[in-house]
Amino acid sequence: MKLQKIVMTACMLLATSAAMATPATDGLFSRYKAQGAAGFDAARGDKAWHKETQGEDGQTMSCSTCHGKDLGKEGKHHKTGKVIAPMAPSVNKDRFTDAKKIEKWFKRNCNDVLARECTAQEKGDYLKFLLDK
Ligand code: HEC
Repeated sequence: MKLQKIVMTACMLLATSAAMATPATDGLFSRYKAQGAAGFDAARGDKAWHKETQGEDGQTMSCSTCHGKDLGKEGKHHKTGKVIAPMAPSVNKDRFTDAKKIEKWFKRNCNDVLARECTAQEKGDYLKFLLDK
């Protein structure tokens, strides 16, 4: 009886974690692996997301500068003031559904914040962190 319960809980946990990925992100994780990255880590993505660095235009910023402190809420572009839809896929179903879009914004946003492109490892870590939200 007890074992059955444990197995059921494990299955439910597996089902929820599978639901958090999208076909687009599955494809990207495979691509990043093919580029040499491995062991994507949400905690590392979390740290990198909040780390303040000097961006392309010399301003100190992090990913939260535009995407906001609460990923379940709207963000705001720090320069244009344009509202950015919430990043958390739990409240925004359109998130992380298009690999081309994800790569386009990684390129642009990594340059904004880090003044360079992100590595495959960094992108995978960011995605792991974001998909949990
Ligand atoms: C200068 C403002 C700004 C900063 C800083 C910023 N972003 Fe973005 N980001 C945007 C905008 C604008 C979009 C596109 C609008 C949208 O998707 O709602 C976007 C979209 C994205 C997307 C695409 C999401 C999807 O659904 O496809 C990802 C991934 C992303 N950003 C990651 C990051 C990461 C990682 C950082 C930190 C390295 C970061 N962003 C910092 C403005 C910013």
